Amino acid sequence: MTIAPDEQDTMRSNLDLIGRTDVVDYEAIFSVVGVEEANGLHPVDNNCKTLFTWDYTKGARPGLDKLYEKSKKAQWNGQTDLPWETEVDTWKLAEEAYTDDQSGFFNADLSGTVVEKWGKKEWIQFGIENQKWSLSQFMHGEQGALVCTAKIVETAPWIDAKYYAAQQVADEARHVEVFSKYLNDKLDGHYQMNGHLGMLLDDIVNDSNWDMTYLGMQVMVEGLALAAFGFAHQMTKEPLLKQLLRYVMADEARHVAFGILSLQEYYQGLTQAELRERQEFAFEAAVRMNDRLASQEVWERMGVPVKDAVKLLTQATDRKDFQVLLFSKIVPNCKKLGLLDAGDGWLRKKFTDLGAIAFEDWQDTTLDEDALADASPMERGLV
Ligand SMILES: [Fe+2]
Ligand SMILES: [Fe+2]
Repeated sequence: MTIAPDEQDTMRSNLDLIGRTDVVDYEAIFSVVGVEEANGLHPVDNNCKTLFTWDYTKGARPGLDKLYEKSKKAQWNGQTDLPWETEVDTWKLAEEAYTDDQSGFFNADLSGTVVEKWGKKEWIQFGIENQKWSLSQFMHGEQGALVCTAKIVETAPWIDAKYYAAQQVADEARHVEVFSKYLNDKLDGHYQMNGHLGMLLDDIVNDSNWDMTYLGMQVMVEGLALAAFGFAHQMTKEPLLKQLLRYVMADEARHVAFGILSLQEYYQGLTQAELRERQEFAFEAAVRMNDRLASQEVWERMGVPVKDAVKLLTQATDRKDFQVLLFSKIVPNCKKLGLLDAGDGWLRKKFTDLGAIAFEDWQDTTLDEDALADASPMERGLV
């Protein structure tokens, strides 16, 4: 079959989109290394136009207005509403998790790797580092959300969206604050941002289309965060972290709902070519997030060479099964937006490659009870 030149332009390959042919290629994943600037600041160009609107009609978009009103009642104070006096014994908690076999690697073939010689002490340290790394990436992602929602205030065309996004800016500031405080006060500091997460956040901030901020941050990054917070909340036995995550999750459910409500309307007016661009962006975001879950900075800190980490990750099927669960919110939300099956169902095929398509009929986040709840987490007794 001959492909017309204009059609060729839209058929971007994995190599064009994510810089490699195979979605799962750990050697390629480990070759992307995050670097922090020496002056402690990371500049990114924002190519999106700031929009003023002269239509001040509050409630013109009732769904967004409802979320805005709910959000006003749901504010909490990260400094005073959490039990910061709680003593956290990191080693003891990691030892309990070790006994519960949570490493995901105990059934893997460790032979020929440095991990083969690890005893209980190293596995416990690995558990501690993994938790510190995860919470660090949550913190960096929260800063991404803070910056992106400030961008949405500037670039969204509707007053109801600007109002709601302003509420979310305050939510995200609180989230950065509480993760940073937990890492500093209870875990002795944080990891730098993972390179893959950094690339994704840069792409989102850099994009010239206002709706891509929503798709990248509200739907993809926050959708994965909502699932990840949920699992971390379920797994942890530490009461301060449990409460912190529960409060953050209550806010995040509204944030994802904000993305879905806004994009549903906007996407109805897009052409197939424009929708395809959104599908590609969603796929790229999904791969970047999947890549970051290889947690390469932890392997490095534990002194595990890349080839050993690649061998372990390749055969750790339990870990992969768990990882794919993190897409349980993203896939139904993309379906609700019409992205899964737009055009020839391109994104459906890509999510199938990632092993995540089975979640398509799970509940989407506009129906999440937290997003619809009225009172603050304290009033609802969420602990
Ligand atoms: Fe957040
Ligand atoms: Fe958020």
